[in-house]
Amino acid sequence: MEGLKFVLVFVLLALASSLTFASDPSPLQDFCVAINETDGVFVNGKFCKDPKLVSEKDFFFPGLNIPRNTSNPVGSTVTPANVAQIPGLNTLGISLVRIDYAPYGGLNPPHTHPRATEVLLVMEGTLYVGFVTSNPENRLITKVLNPGDVFVFPVGLIHFQFNVGEANAVAFAGLSSQNPGVIIIGNAVFGSEPPINPDVLTKAFQLDKSVVNFLQKQFWWDNN
Ligand SMILES: *[C@@H]1O[C@H](CO)[C@@H](O)[C@H](O)[C@H]1NC(C)=O
Ligand SMILES: *[C@@H]1O[C@H](CO)[C@@H](O)[C@H](O)[C@H]1NC(C)=O
Repeated sequence: MEGLKFVLVFVLLALASSLTFASDPSPLQDFCVAINETDGVFVNGKFCKDPKLVSEKDFFFPGLNIPRNTSNPVGSTVTPANVAQIPGLNTLGISLVRIDYAPYGGLNPPHTHPRATEVLLVMEGTLYVGFVTSNPENRLITKVLNPGDVFVFPVGLIHFQFNVGEANAVAFAGLSSQNPGVIIIGNAVFGSEPPINPDVLTKAFQLDKSVVNFLQKQFWWDNN
């Protein structure tokens, strides 16, 4: 009886953990190279190409060595290599980005990835990075990073990187999803389409309504 209880508790815990810790579904074959869904049909991920028609092109993406233009309002540019660029990543639970930052002040603004933890490697420059833990602590954890330094941004948490050096900065990051998703906080809150009722934002952010109106009129650049 005790043994049965133990097994039951174990099964329930295993079930709970599989429900709690979201990650991309595990593949049930070697790979499932993505093809575009036909109109009106959606699956959790993408349809698989016939394995016989798959080639090395499906697993390949060139050019991440090329610096990107950072002349934009935030001074940074993210170049993704996820399932949208590499169909062979479908179901594999992993992707990559290159991030370029303009000299002093290039910012990857506060954002979250709803589906991925991120592990960032600095290749060039000096970045002040950080993330904020969830309620109620909302603790800010920050570090200044130099070339060769690695930093982790846990899944779902708001994080940022800021170039505090006098030269360009470059980082690469691995993400634990084929399709990590990005929510830039400013863009989502003040730049949504259609706009959020200003009364909501006035109260939520304890701002004067004129400030909310001002913020909602800004152009919220998407660096992704
Ligand atoms: C899916 O369609 C889009 C738009 O037509 C195209 O840019 C993309 O390369 C296609 N992806 C695949 C995996 O075929
Ligand atoms: C970078 O982008 C800016 C703004 O679009 C443009 O004026 C500038 O010529 C670009 N620089 C390069 C090197 O392409």
